[in-house]
Amino acid sequence: MDPVKVISMRLSQRMRQLKPSATMAISAKALDMKAQGKQIISLSVGEPDFPTPQHVQDAAKQAIDKGFHKYTQPPGLPELRRAIAGYFHHFYGVEAPAEATIATNGGKQALYNLFQSIIDPGDEVLVALPYWVSYPALVEMAGGVLKPIPTRVEENFKLQPEDLVRAIGPKTRCLIINSPSNPTGCHYTREELYTLAQLALDKGLFLVSDEIYDRLVFSPAEPISLSPLWEENPEQVAVINGLSKSFAMTGWRIGYALAHPELIKAMQKLQGQTTSNICAVTQKAAEAALVGSWEPVKEMCTAFQRRRDLALDIISGWSRATCPKPDGAFYLFCELKDYFTAQAPDSSSFCCMLLEKAGVALVPGAAFGDDSCLRISYAVDDEVLRTALNKIGEVLAEC
Ligand SMILES: Cc1ncc(COP(=O)(O)O)c(C=O)c1O
Repeated sequence: MDPVKVISMRLSQRMRQLKPSATMAISAKALDMKAQGKQIISLSVGEPDFPTPQHVQDAAKQAIDKGFHKYTQPPGLPELRRAIAGYFHHFYGVEAPAEATIATNGGKQALYNLFQSIIDPGDEVLVALPYWVSYPALVEMAGGVLKPIPTRVEENFKLQPEDLVRAIGPKTRCLIINSPSNPTGCHYTREELYTLAQLALDKGLFLVSDEIYDRLVFSPAEPISLSPLWEENPEQVAVINGLSKSFAMTGWRIGYALAHPELIKAMQKLQGQTTSNICAVTQKAAEAALVGSWEPVKEMCTAFQRRRDLALDIISGWSRATCPKPDGAFYLFCELKDYFTAQAPDSSSFCCMLLEKAGVALVPGAAFGDDSCLRISYAVDDEVLRTALNKIGEVLAEC
């Protein structure tokens, strides 16, 4: 028998530098604890707890039964691309040709394709801090550098125009706006949003509007999109969206982008060489979602609003916590630094402590660039949410 060869696995520099998703890390720890028989409630996930609406499931079943099993055009079926364009027309009055759209494997791939297509090495990309965990990696993989602009808890984590102006430098290529935001749920008013966007455009920046939570906005606030700005400045704006959150379709992998047709062609070239089209069956389901009833989305949104209020009511009893009231998504970003202890002096160790003592998994703010906060996802049943937050409250009372 040959002696066993001992060869160390050599990974590329790129892969050695790439950080794993921090939200996945805490979910994995919670799963490990569950596997050991511990009672754990996870308020760490970034996906709705509702099933995908029935009519969307039915469309997928029909597609399978009809033998819709083959490759499609890389940017998506023409009827799906028309449905995506139709979305922007129906909700925001935007006239977009199907060629200005592409269907991708989740909003994540839309962002990946986009950054690869517009960023050159050394380009700087601005974003409000706290920011969604994947932006740094997505920008870095394209050779860019993410430059987070700190926001303040007392201003509901909203990026202020004067801070944006100060952050723009000679290497700034792009501004990402994510409203409603993950992790804060912060939703800009129309005036606030358009002021920031116009400022970026006037400075010649490219504007990426990540609108993945745009339908999950709580009354009296209203969904707002920067797609009308795309119509006026198609070379300078791209809008990212998808059905993961609005239609509870995280596992189906359906995202999309609205951008200049030339930019879409570049994104399509990259997609054609990497993943080809997205799942054919998903495309049929996505079309059914986009052109069918939006009632299930409204129902989910109503449930999220009720849970937000329920959660804030309990959190108001945590005397040393500061938690702004968000108008969208399904997250609370809660400043808990005044509870940190010598044994748990930062958001990661505090998160671990809460997992061990309260049996509740949250996500450390450090994953989003803010080490004084923790993210609470309320995409769980009302009773589960109440139980989990009360358990956290009991642990906080001892800190
Ligand atoms: C702000 C934001 N953008 C984009 C995405 C990507 O979503 P998906 O790839 O599941 O469509 C997410 C998912 O958590 C998100 O929170």
